[in-house]
Amino acid sequence: MGWLIIDLVVTLSEKDKAYLWHPFTEMDQWCASDHQPLTIDRGEGVYLYDIDGNCYIDGNASIWTNIHGHCHPVIDAALREQLDRIAHCSFLGTTNEPAILLAEKLVGLFPRATFSRVFFSDDGSTAVECALKMAIQYCQLTGQRERREFIAFEGAYHGDTLGAAALGKIPAIHQRFEGLGMPVRHLQSSAQLQDIDGTKVVAVVIEPLVQGTAGIRLWPRGMLQELRQWCDDTGVLLIFDEVMTGFGRTGKMFACEHEDVMPDLMALAKGLTGGYLPLAATLATARIYEAFLGGSERTFYYGHSYSGNPLGCAAALASLRVFEQEHTLEHLPAKVEHLAAGLESFAKGNPHLGEVRQCGLVTGIDLSGGDGTLGARCCAAARKHGLLTRAIGDTVVFMPPLVITPAQIDEALTALGRGIAEIVG
Ligand SMILES: Cc1ncc(COP(=O)(O)O)c(C=O)c1O
Repeated sequence: MGWLIIDLVVTLSEKDKAYLWHPFTEMDQWCASDHQPLTIDRGEGVYLYDIDGNCYIDGNASIWTNIHGHCHPVIDAALREQLDRIAHCSFLGTTNEPAILLAEKLVGLFPRATFSRVFFSDDGSTAVECALKMAIQYCQLTGQRERREFIAFEGAYHGDTLGAAALGKIPAIHQRFEGLGMPVRHLQSSAQLQDIDGTKVVAVVIEPLVQGTAGIRLWPRGMLQELRQWCDDTGVLLIFDEVMTGFGRTGKMFACEHEDVMPDLMALAKGLTGGYLPLAATLATARIYEAFLGGSERTFYYGHSYSGNPLGCAAALASLRVFEQEHTLEHLPAKVEHLAAGLESFAKGNPHLGEVRQCGLVTGIDLSGGDGTLGARCCAAARKHGLLTRAIGDTVVFMPPLVITPAQIDEALTALGRGIAEIVG
């Protein structure tokens, strides 16, 4: 039996290396003979198990998607029930119950009359792409054709489709494609808006409160209000990309709630289905939606084959039910505090650690004196102690599923501490 398992693992790894192309991955390193890919077999709650039976805390919530843990009985049951009805049907010309109920629920998560419509797509990139196209067409439909450029920020990441990527400004990811997408002006701070002629601008796009892929960079408090004010003064639309921050990550359901600021368009994905299935939503205000009414020449000609996918919508509805049943948001403050205290003692007097940044359960831990690979090496070492997470350069990211317990937070920090100690001494 043991041989059989070893055989299976070897065969799978070989086939992986023979056929797959992984995202954001240096493939010659991945395929090197001394690299053994980690093959995940199953998950349970906050834990992932590999094909050899090793167990890891899912320290980056499966690339920032998972909310209530893996194999959650409520979401699993909802999916099985939906599977018995239908997995997918077109959303062009037909509709379905889970999508209708989910749209109603999503609109209801915001103060009354904030958003009036939900447009479904597939992932974070398409949710942003859709918001960009809505914003451009809105300007055209309302006689503002001179508005042609977007404003985004240094360090931004909004996805990899060409429009969303044009908003991004992380050299390793975006430099190669610069100038090939839409016109975007990148700012360092909201103060720079004062020097900009708003009459040419379609929209300002931001990851509210915290930039994830930049290495968990926190924006100054009050920035969202400043953006809202400038956009109101200049007639520019405000787009919040809550793909990472949405669904409780920052301690509230949505990051914008921390400053009580609502955008004109919002992109949601990742945690929308609890981290189960690819589904995204772009939420629009009534003002934007109504501009698209009044004939075929005003129609929003945009969509994807899997828009409104019933399985994804059933998972998302179940995830929102779990938020209510398990009082997920109510339990967050204690976890956030516990993490803050844990990080403080973790970092205290440790010369190998630099700045530690936390926003809810979103954490970036800078390693001092790194060469850009130190983070990855420390994460690889922490893996042997039972923590699976990723680094961005020399910043280790810890962003667990919201279901994590204080004891599991301690377990994760202990594993990370051991991993770092092993690498830096
Ligand atoms: C803020 C933000 N927007 C958009 C995206 C793109 O999402 P996806 O990878 O689902 O296309 C990401 C992914 O990390 C993100 O962090």
